[in-house]
This record gives sequence, structure tokens and C-alpha cells, in this order.
Amino acid sequence: MTHRLIVGGSGSGKSHQAKKLTKQLAARGYPTLVLCRGGEEHDWAHAQYVTSSFDEFEKVFWANHGLAVVVDEAMNIFDGETALRAKRMLTEGRHQAHVVHLVAQRAVDQLNATARQQADTAFIFRIAEADAKSLAGQFGIPALAQAHLLPQYHYFAVGPCGYCKLGETTP
Ligand SMILES: Nc1ncnc2c1ncn2[C@@H]1O[C@H](COP(=O)(O)OP(=O)(O)O)[C@@H](O)[C@H]1O
Ligand SMILES: [Mg+2]
Repeated sequence: MTHRLIVGGSGSGKSHQAKKLTKQLAARGYPTLVLCRGGEEHDWAHAQYVTSSFDEFEKVFWANHGLAVVVDEAMNIFDGETALRAKRMLTEGRHQAHVVHLVAQRAVDQLNATARQQADTAFIFRIAEADAKSLAGQFGIPALAQAHLLPQYHYFAVGPCGYCKLGETTP
């Protein structure tokens, strides 16, 4: 059971990376479930379930086991009336044996502490300098303060025990 964060500015390569990771999982037998913004559904050709409706997404999430789940820039699900339900998916969702990918532009505003603490791996793409500094503090990894200097499609892969390695998404 894995839980991954994908963070970076607009156009940095986050969705591309989420697609790559979920295609790899599809090859290992994980169907893909995506919650995305309205109008972006067609971007997810390989996914079995794609929706911009939180209710629909939640229903499929709990009705299945072993999905590759993506929340692509729909981080406002952690605010307002869906907040508790979204948090429950992050914590108790582990029993569904899903692999969950959370995609967000701004780590600070959009990722609540639960989301961050539950993550096994974070892919940090190019991000605003202030956010890079904040992420360095949140993860306790000083190198992340340089994330604003990353070229497009490049990322820091961050794991447990201070693991941090540079990577690049392939087309
Ligand atoms: N390694 C890559 N090489 C070429 N094009 C890429 C690569 N990674 C992403 N892209 C393309 O760049 C554009 C922006 O990437 P995207 O993943 O949509 O950014 P984000 O989700 O961070 O806004 C997309 O059209 C995507 O297909
Ligand atoms: Mg995107």
C-alpha cells in the first residue's frame, strides 16, 4: 500500500508523472480511478473511472480494492463539507489497498497535514521559492529549498528517512 504526493507549479509535469505512475500500476493489475477538474476528463484515456464529481469518486473508492487512485488538483476536497470524508479516505483507505496519488500546485495551502504525513513518497517538481522553502521545512530536507530552480519535468523524489533523489519524467 503506497501513498504518493506530486507537487509543483502549473506545467511542471505533475499530471504527466501521475499518468506515468498509474500506467505502470495498470500493468500490474491496478485499475485507475481519477478525480480531476471538470473538462480534464479526456486527459485520462487509460483510466477506468474518471470523474470531476467528489460523490462519484468516493463511491468508486469505497466499492473497490486495489485501485491506482489520482486526485489531480482537486485538493479543495480537504476544505468544507467534503473535508472529513476526504480525510477518512486518506487514513482508512489503506484497507482498500489502493495506491493513492495526490497532485497539488501548492504544498502549503492545498495539502493538509494528514495528506503530507500519510505519504510514503513525494515528487516535488518546480515550485515557487517560498513554497520550496516551506517544503524543505515540512520534510526536514534542506535540498528541497532549491526546488524553485528545477527545470520543467524534473523533480526531487522524497522518501522516508530523509531519502531525496533527483529525477526526470520521460515523455
Ligand atoms: N518529460 C516530458 N517531455 C515532454 N513533455 C512532457 C514531459 N512531461 C510532461 N510533458 C508535457 O508537458 C505538459 C505539461 O505537463 P503536465 O504534466 O500537464 O503539467 P502539470 O500537471 O504540472 O500542470 C503536458 O502537455 C505534458 O504532456
Ligand atoms: Mg496537471
